[in-house]
Amino acid sequence: MAEAVCAHCHGTGWKISVSEGVSSAEPCECRGEARSKALLANAGIPVNYTAASIDNFVLPRDNPAGRAAMADVVLTVRTYLREYPVLDRPGLLFIGSPGTGKTHLAVAALRHLIQRGFEGLFFDYQNLLDQIRSGYDKGSGIIDREAYRTALDAEILLLDDLGAHRVTDWVEDTVTSIITYRCNHRKPLIATTNLRDPEAGDRRGSGLDADIHSKFFLEERIGMRARSRLFEMCRIVRMPQVEDYRIRRRQ
Ligand SMILES: Nc1ncnc2c1ncn2[C@@H]1O[C@H](COP(=O)(O)OP(=O)(O)OP(=O)(O)O)[C@@H](O)[C@H]1O
Ligand SMILES: [Mg+2]
Ligand SMILES: [Zn+2]
Repeated sequence: MAEAVCAHCHGTGWKISVSEGVSSAEPCECRGEARSKALLANAGIPVNYTAASIDNFVLPRDNPAGRAAMADVVLTVRTYLREYPVLDRPGLLFIGSPGTGKTHLAVAALRHLIQRGFEGLFFDYQNLLDQIRSGYDKGSGIIDREAYRTALDAEILLLDDLGAHRVTDWVEDTVTSIITYRCNHRKPLIATTNLRDPEAGDRRGSGLDADIHSKFFLEERIGMRARSRLFEMCRIVRMPQVEDYRIRRRQ
């Protein structure tokens, strides 16, 4: 498909105007648009979520308590976006059961910020670890600098499904160092997880409570240090118990 050429600058990115015989150039508005389009295309957002936005996030209709709690969640995200980048805590951590819209809202936030000109990258946690591991040279102990550096350096990092991986020392070290680095440099991290955490109101226990969502605690999967940094740097967004949207949509 042919790229439409901007009618104002004819694709040069500069608008030339002539006033009193003197010509001057000023940056064309299309620059911003072209930049955010390119940033979005390179952000690694999975196809399923390329349209995810806050505006198309639907509040549950049949569950008043769930609806009110979800409206609160949306408000927290909107507030974060409005205040960005001047924030007490530079990150957002979505915690909750599968299908409650964590990835949807996390991507919506990322897309919003990219459209404002910030650079952001989406990483599936498992994928990121696989990429780092595949570049891990057992002999030299050197890890794949590229995937690893990208996770450290990205202006905004979205880590989706944090902890969805069996913990090993190696995983724990890697995640701790990524989160610590980002925390120390106040680099925004948006993360989602369906693991439990006492600070998000989850109790250790069994019975009914235990099969609400994962029986694992965040700390058990990513380690105590990474977990503690994460809570230090993120506003916590606890998703209410609402019906799995994937199931709701099929009905
Ligand atoms: N409230 C909502 N309004 C519109 N679409 C939604 C809503 N909640 C979820 N969805 C859609 O339902 C699907 C599942 O949601 P999503 O992937 O965000 O869930 P999740 O909480 O990340 O689940 P998991 O823990 O399994 O990763 C996605 O396609 C998402 O866009
Ligand atoms: Mg998800
Ligand atoms: Zn232009």
